[in-house]
Amino acid sequence: MFNKKTVRDIDVRGKRVLVRVDFNVPLKDGAVMDDTRIRAALPTLEYLLEQGAALILCSHLGRPKGKVVPELSLRPVAAYLGQVMGKPVAFADDCIGPAAESAARALKPGEVLLLENTRFHAGEKKNDPAMAKQLAALADLYVDDAFGSAHRAHASTEGVTKFLPAVAGFLMEKELRYLGGMIADPMQPFVAILGGAKISDKIGVITNLLTKSDAILIGGGMANTFFKAQGYPVGDSLVEDEVLDVARQLIQEAGSRLRLPFDVVIADRFDADADHKVMPMGPIPDGWRILDIGPETVRAYSKVIQGAKTVVWNGPMGVFEFPAFAKGTFGLAQAVAESDAVSIVGGGESVAAVKQSGLAESITHISTGGGASLEMLEGKTLPGVAALQDK
Ligand code: 3PG
Repeated sequence: MFNKKTVRDIDVRGKRVLVRVDFNVPLKDGAVMDDTRIRAALPTLEYLLEQGAALILCSHLGRPKGKVVPELSLRPVAAYLGQVMGKPVAFADDCIGPAAESAARALKPGEVLLLENTRFHAGEKKNDPAMAKQLAALADLYVDDAFGSAHRAHASTEGVTKFLPAVAGFLMEKELRYLGGMIADPMQPFVAILGGAKISDKIGVITNLLTKSDAILIGGGMANTFFKAQGYPVGDSLVEDEVLDVARQLIQEAGSRLRLPFDVVIADRFDADADHKVMPMGPIPDGWRILDIGPETVRAYSKVIQGAKTVVWNGPMGVFEFPAFAKGTFGLAQAVAESDAVSIVGGGESVAAVKQSGLAESITHISTGGGASLEMLEGKTLPGVAALQDK
């Protein structure tokens, strides 16, 4: 259950508020290619400004490994944020030290400052207390709205909370309600859809969801490893031989709740224009590989989804980037969009697929977190969340 203080619980009037946002957005030649994470932070930023705060925003961008990497500067993001907020957003060339300190000091209530990439300092990922203290010294209060980074115990997500009163923003609150509360105590029937390439990335998720869900619908590359674990030859399909035992164990534990595709789309190579055909699940011929779930499976899975009250989805059902192998993923997106269930989609690829399908509006909650949403589905408490003040 969500028991953390939020921005509603603090008085920010006339205060400087350090807001950790997740502006780790894709950039190309300085242009923001997907602004979902920026827009998702706006309710918190606008609320704090209305309440009379001055905002000092910080975020990481990419993985610069503790060094200044000009292509990973947040400067273009400050300009973009200024456009979407309809007001100037100042930028400081460093997130700590003199540049940050003088910019923060100059800030008045109602104004916004974005600091440079926190990962330009090695202290960020090391959760260095000295860096956390310097960040904290810029402000009177700390708000964490960076759900996407909450699984990282870094200086700007965890360390800083040792030096400032720390509460959650609205995005953090919303993500935790859906990926925490709704998963811990779901309305039944609860159906999980799990895809993506690898079982090894999702063992924790499957194990956790098995304790709560009525059905787990499996697709994507990970289904191949389950097939091989059942003894099928899988041709040239992607397989993780090192987790075949784990797959066997999961099949045994889950019994009939773990559903595997019973027809698949196979291709003669990994290519958008590959020769392809549908076949009932069985030995995959040599030289062929599974690239999507088949139409009968889409129908059967859709029926299960129709009966659900809660649906959580992580990972695509096939290589949806190629139209010939996108029908499984888009077919299930349709079923989830049409169902009356509370629907939660998490993880970069499944989010991209749902957006591409044009059905995003019909999903109850689309997470802004990749790794963070996976760890929530594993039932873990994220360090960036644990560090916030309890109600
Ligand atoms: C993400 O994109 O998932 C978050 O911003 C975290 O980024 P990281 O995996 O580089 O820590």
